This record gives sequence, C-alpha cells and structure tokens, in this order.
Amino acid sequence: KTVEWEAEEFERGLHEHFMMKEIHEQPDAVGRVIRGRLDERFHTVHLGGLNMDAREAREIKRVKILGCGSAYYAGQMGAQFIEEVARIPADAEPASEFRYRNPVVERDTLYVAVSQSGETLDTLVAVQELKRKGGRVIGLVNAVGSSIAREVDGGVYLHAGPEVSVASTKALTNMAVGFAMLGIHLGRIRDVSPADGRRLIEGLKKLPADIAAIVAQEEELAKIAGRLAKHESLFFVGRTRGYPVAREGAQKLKEISYRHAEAYQTSELKHGPLALISPDVPSVAIVPDDELLDRNIGALHEIGARSGPLYVVTHPGVEVPDGVAAKIVVPKNEPELDPILLTIPLQIIAYYAAVALGHDVDKPRNLAKSVTVE
Ligand code: AGP
Repeated sequence: KTVEWEAEEFERGLHEHFMMKEIHEQPDAVGRVIRGRLDERFHTVHLGGLNMDAREAREIKRVKILGCGSAYYAGQMGAQFIEEVARIPADAEPASEFRYRNPVVERDTLYVAVSQSGETLDTLVAVQELKRKGGRVIGLVNAVGSSIAREVDGGVYLHAGPEVSVASTKALTNMAVGFAMLGIHLGRIRDVSPADGRRLIEGLKKLPADIAAIVAQEEELAKIAGRLAKHESLFFVGRTRGYPVAREGAQKLKEISYRHAEAYQTSELKHGPLALISPDVPSVAIVPDDELLDRNIGALHEIGARSGPLYVVTHPGVEVPDGVAAKIVVPKNEPELDPILLTIPLQIIAYYAAVALGHDVDKPRNLAKSVTVE
C-alpha cells in the first residue's frame, strides 16, 4: 500500500491531483497527436492508420461519430468541424443510445468510435454491431491495443498518454484535435483549397502555445471557480461551435463538484430556460469572436436584464456588457479550432470548484474511469 502510494505521488509530481497534472500536460499532449502527421507541402494531414486510400475516402457521403460522455461531446465538436470544413454531413450520437435502437447502417457512411480508454462497453458494443452489419468503422482511441482499437477497421491513436483522473481533460482535447485532423484530411481530398488547408494547419501548430497561455491563467480561474462554486445550480450556454464547449463545461462541473449544471444552446434560452435565470443562477457563456458575436452579446444582455450573473469566456477585443461577473479571455485561433481552446478554462474552473467544495477531485463519487459494464 505504502509503495503504491509513493509511486502515485511520484507520478503526480508537483500537482496535488492527477486532474491538474493532466490539464498542464495538454500542450505536450497536443504536440504528440499532431507530430509527424502534418503535411506542409500539400497542406493536409496524413493519418496512416485509417487504412483507407484517397479514392475510398472520397466515396464517404456521411460521417457518424459515436462515443459516451465527454468523448461524445468531443464527437460533437468533431462533427461540426468535419461538416464545416470538409462539407460532409456529420453528426455525433451517444454510443449508449445507438447500440440499442437498431440503427440503419449505410455503406457510404464512415463511422467513428471515439474513446479514451478504448474499453467503454457501450462504445465497444456499438462498434461490434456496426461491424456485424457491414459498416466501416474507424477509431479515435487513446489507449493503445485496447478492445475498441483492436476491433475497428483503422484509426487514429490520440497519444495523450495515460489519463488517471476520472474527469477527462487531455484525452478530450486530443480527441477534438484528432477530429480536426480527420476533417482536414477528408476536406483536402475534396474541395478545401491549399490556402485553407495551410490556414488550419498553422492553427493546429499554434494550439500548444495557446493552451499554455490559458493554463497560465490558473490563479485567476481558481478565484472565479470559488465564486461559481457557491451556487447550487448553473447554466453553461453556447451556440453552434460553442455548444459542445458548453456541454463539456457543464459535464466537468457536475462530475467533480456535484453542482447542478445545465448546458443550453444560447439560441434556445428564450424558448424556455430564461425563466430560470435569477441572481442565484449564474451563466457561463461561451462567446467566441465569430460571425455570431452580435447575437451572443444580445443574449448576454437578456440574461443580464434578469439579473443573472454572467461569466463570459471570450476572445481578445470582445466588448462584453457592463456588470459581468467575470470575463475570461482565451487566445484566438482559427474559428473552426477555437472550441478546443474555449474548453480549457472550463476544465480549470471545474477543478477549482471541486477543490473549493472539498471533493475528491480524481475519484468523484459514483463514477469509474471507464465504464466496462452494462
Ligand atoms: C469524462 O470526464 C467522463 N469521465 C466520461 O464522460 C467519459 O468521457 C466517458 O465515460 C467515456 O470514456 P472513454 O473515453 O474512455 O470511452
């Protein structure tokens, strides 16, 4: 027992918890997943493990992503990226639902199973069901040689390194980066121009430094988390690219701080949940500097008018309404890659909220690192 404990302490290094160690490892982890895969000559990405030549890849008419929990949210980010960049219709669905609903399996759909552990039973069974029906499945998997990695027709290893904390951070980030690489790859054998390919590859190369700049705001984010942790119930709002970010932010907070957090599309607030906004219910709003900025700022005013405290995650130069409780600024990258960066402060906030409430950050109640049972 003592030896085990010492080994664990050694692995955690300077950090009190694995989760914070893993948050800090993200610049290196992203560096590893892109290493050797970016092609600066043809402005594309090479993913040798896909086991699919360009002709086969061109025949894909649809992409369907399957994963559970945070992997599903990374899948939502991935589906948006692939549809926006490669112009292939794409969507994500919880593998836990897909496996039970006798889905139609199409021959020109590329199915993508995404998993940190590669052992999540719902995702594994979804893969097996797809294969039984003749579907083409690839994996975006972190754990090398895991059950899902062995079952799929090809895939992309995420190289995030071992993740110990139940709350996934670096694996989720590398999943989102993996999907961006897949999207660039599929896009460049279709209509994405060399200039756009170059723009996105330059964006990918900047991610590690951008993430490091966010992690450097840890102290300030800890204070914000302390304030948020006082509330029993919170909203996380975002729209389009920002919506999976909001969902992941709410998931992280629920998982380790046990606060009630609900993610909502900013655009849907007025169709119901606005009724719940009050001084007791703060909103963490994802407000990227993109084509929907004005609309998002409008929504902030609506929340503010109901005296809802606002914690805004945004980009440099964005003017937020007077009176917001906090403004968190992350570096601006390319619009399609921004969700990856907007997620990072939410990890740090969830961590410090759990610390402030005195919870066991790495081993939250009722949860296992990988769910390998029905
Ligand atoms: C993430 O913080 C959660 N612990 C959980 O949602 C997790 O992402 C999910 O269970 C899927 O795990 P996997 O990536 O190992 O398949």
